[in-house]
Amino acid sequence: MNYKKNSLFIENISIQKIAKKFGTPSYCYSLNKLKLNIRNFKKYFRSINPLLCFSVKSNSNFQILKEINKMGMGADVVSKGELIMALKAGISPKKIVFSGVGKTFDELKFAIDKNILLINSESESEINQIEKISKIKNKKIDIGIRLNPNIDSKTLKKISTGKKEDKFGLTEINFLKAINKFKNSKNLNIRCLSVHIGSQITDHKPYAKMLKVVRSVIKKSNHNFDFVDLGGGMGIKYNKETKKLDYKKYNSIIKNFLNKYRTKIIFEPGRSIIGDTALLLTRVLYIKKTSKINFVILDAAMNDLMRPALYGSRHEIMASIKSKKMIRKKHEFVGPICETTDKFLSVPKFQTLREKDTLAICDVGAYGMVLSSNYNLRTKPSEILINQSSSKIITKRQKLNNII
Ligand SMILES: Cc1ncc(COP(=O)(O)O)c(C=O)c1O
Repeated sequence: MNYKKNSLFIENISIQKIAKKFGTPSYCYSLNKLKLNIRNFKKYFRSINPLLCFSVKSNSNFQILKEINKMGMGADVVSKGELIMALKAGISPKKIVFSGVGKTFDELKFAIDKNILLINSESESEINQIEKISKIKNKKIDIGIRLNPNIDSKTLKKISTGKKEDKFGLTEINFLKAINKFKNSKNLNIRCLSVHIGSQITDHKPYAKMLKVVRSVIKKSNHNFDFVDLGGGMGIKYNKETKKLDYKKYNSIIKNFLNKYRTKIIFEPGRSIIGDTALLLTRVLYIKKTSKINFVILDAAMNDLMRPALYGSRHEIMASIKSKKMIRKKHEFVGPICETTDKFLSVPKFQTLREKDTLAICDVGAYGMVLSSNYNLRTKPSEILINQSSSKIITKRQKLNNII
């Protein structure tokens, strides 16, 4: 995504052209950036040869999943819906892990029938349930157990998942109890220890602490795990201030771990694969000026992109046509929804803008469209995939008829 002669392009098409053709708001993905991200991720961890399971919760678009399958990734799913979508996209069940704190009886039964690689469980009660179903089906099911390592991942509080106050995983004591209880089960095969301490992590040190805890718990468990699933969480650069995760260091921490304990590493990356591949195209409806603030009212709202309202996250905004003329006054980019939190960004200055201008909200590929809703009975946006000079709709804009 670059300016060419002051016009913002995604691959070889200007976003103005895309907005005109498909309307706004629209999510717009770069296929080649997605491919590049996957290639880079593989490169960072080449020496440990991990199994990469894309976190479908970050983006469950069917065409995107098909591309991800073509690039050789598996999937990490958290619901029956995501599991069906991953399978339909062609991802082999033997590359699918099913995570989540509360899977229903029906979801577990479905996953067991599909013979997926692992069901990663997070409570003794759920493991009991899996064992019960396996017994009925006369099967031996491969499971993982998620450890809560009680580590602060130093990320946003609302996307931290690895502390003992968080609902995720089993504490060390309960993890060890579960291993003892189920290790000789006729219907379960405990093949994996899984862990995931949060999202948008930009510092390798929490990962180092996490692996130290994992190592110590494995020792205490006296159990042999074929897989250690380290989850996802690798952060991306949302703006100039965000630090970049040092993949080299993270890789060497894992290599060190593998020197002492031989196992297959699984990753479940979402954001780092898809986050910076997409823009949300939107148009300026109105500009409302007060003495201190210019409110730029967009046709996109928190129902289209929830992250700023939900997590207070910051997505940069770019104009489709760059202007050197700056207005040195606070600009607030807001949506039309009747909520004060329906606000995308506040900046002390912005270039000159006019009503009907097209803007791009950046880095919205992960936890963007998947979190969209029909709040205020607004229709969900379309999704467009760009491949060099070609563009195609990969999700049609919802019609009011579909929701009324
Ligand atoms: C268990 C699990 N794995 C993987 C992910 C993906 O995380 P990310 O998108 O930050 O890579 C999440 C997201 O929170 C998760 O809960």
